[in-house]
Parts: sequence; C-alpha cells; structure tokens
Amino acid sequence: MATWSAPGKVFLFGEHAVVYGKPGVAMAIKPRVFVTVKKSRNPTHPKSPYIDECFKRMGVRGSVYVNSQLQSSSGLGSSAAVTVATLCAINEEFGIGRTRDEIADIAFSIERKVQSGRASPTDTYVCTNGGMVLITGTSKRRLPPQGLQLVVGNTLVPHSTAKMVELVGTLQKKHPDIADPILDAIGAVTLAALHNINNQKVLGQCMDTNNALLEALGVGHPASSRLVLAARASGAYGAKITGAGGGGCIIALCPRRAKSRVAGAIEACEGKAIITTIDTDGARREKND
Ligand code: PMV
Repeated sequence: MATWSAPGKVFLFGEHAVVYGKPGVAMAIKPRVFVTVKKSRNPTHPKSPYIDECFKRMGVRGSVYVNSQLQSSSGLGSSAAVTVATLCAINEEFGIGRTRDEIADIAFSIERKVQSGRASPTDTYVCTNGGMVLITGTSKRRLPPQGLQLVVGNTLVPHSTAKMVELVGTLQKKHPDIADPILDAIGAVTLAALHNINNQKVLGQCMDTNNALLEALGVGHPASSRLVLAARASGAYGAKITGAGGGGCIIALCPRRAKSRVAGAIEACEGKAIITTIDTDGARREKND
C-alpha cells in the first residue's frame, strides 16, 4: 500500500491565456489531495477518467482510495492533484521507478487527453513541485516563493474546466479579432505583475484587471462576481477568478490584518472561504498507518 498527497493550486495570473502560449503565474496552496494505491486482485477505484488513464499509462491495475481537502471542479487544480498523487502512489506501490519530472510530464499528457487536447502544463507541474511558477508555453521557471496572504472563495457553483477551455477556444476560432487582444492583454498583465511582485497594492490592481479580462473572455459568473466585489469591499488589495471560471473559485490578495474580514464577507455572500498561503512541498509521500 502506498499513500501520496499533492497540493492544490491557484492561478495568480494568466489562466486561459497560458493555453495560448502566454505567460501565467500559479502557486501551490496548502489544501491537499491524499491518494492510497494498493495492489489487488479485484481492483476498485472511484469513477474518474483521470485515474483510469493513470493506470493505463503506468501499465498496471490496482485499487485506489482518494481523500480530498479540495472540492472537485472548483478551479483549485483538484484533477491535477488527484492525477499526480495517483501516479506517484502507483509508481511506489508497483516499483516503477519514474522520476518526479517524468510523473509531471505523464500527468500533463493525461490532463491534455481528458480535456480534449487543450491544457497547459501549469496545474500538473505546480502540484508536482510546489511553490510558485511562471509558465510560458512549455517552459516553466520556479519563482522565489512569496508570502502572499490569500483568501480563496469557492462559489460552490461547479464548473467543467474542459467546457470553459472549449468555450474560449470557440470564441478564439470564431472571433480571433476579439479574443486575441484579450489574451495578449492577459499576458501583459501577468508580466506587469511579475515586475511588481514585491508591491502587493500593484499586484492587487493587476488581479482586478486580470479579472475584467477573464470576464471579457466569457468565463465570468454572477456568483464569482459577487465574491470578487465582496472581497474588494472588505479590504482585499485585489480579487479575481482563479482557474477556468464559469463558477468555481476566486482568490483575494489581502493585507494580513484583513484576511478574516475578507473571509467573513465571502461567507456572507454564500461562498466558502479558505484562508491560505503558499505550499512549498509539492507531491509528498505520506505514512501509511
Ligand atoms: O480550473 P482549473 O484549476 O483546472 O484551471 C484551468 C486553467 C486553464 O488555464 C483554463 C486551463 C489550463 O490547463 O491551464
């Protein structure tokens, strides 16, 4: 029996635009997914195309138990965390000997397949390695970890990443004249944020602009708009959708003293708030007790 865990992630900047080769910044966060894999004659596992693909790629069969602190379909990268933790646990249980980099690559190709060919390596890379990462096309650069104080607001409106990625894909195909400048502007906001990584007020403004651009792409939702506005009104430096949108989660960058107030405002709007910060561990072997 082998148990591994992997963290969730938030996009600080650049979701959707990363799928089109623009820069994006993502960060691993504390809540995790725990996966236990066991060799078994009669394998059983939760119904999931991601878990099915993990076994297919590793060429074995086994039983799986998943315990998640991350709500699925919420934009916190739970599918990547399940995929990475499952691959790591299969790797150990069956003594396959894949490296961490190989696991991240396999996890990415699984996400791309399940998401109909459109995915960036962001989620899988960040949750395998932890920390903060700048993604541009296929290149990934680890950034010095920042002590950003975040409040995640879950709208509790489930979304499908694949569907939202497809929606942007359709807009880009039908109206490249509209979609391309928005995607370019998101890339520019990400670069502006990177140049101001030590100035939280400017970072907050960049988040607000990034959110407006995501709404222009069509991935907004009344529930996420409500939480974003509530977070800003209660003292956040800035707030935006994180992940694919269409519901899912928002993040608010907060002064330390405002975190509880922002979390309270999110809960008052019927969202679920998580006060969190960076996770620097990435995928991790857990004790089996
Ligand atoms: O909703 P999430 O956490 O899976 O994030 C999706 C982010 C996208 O940029 C929309 C897609 C991707 O694979 O990067």
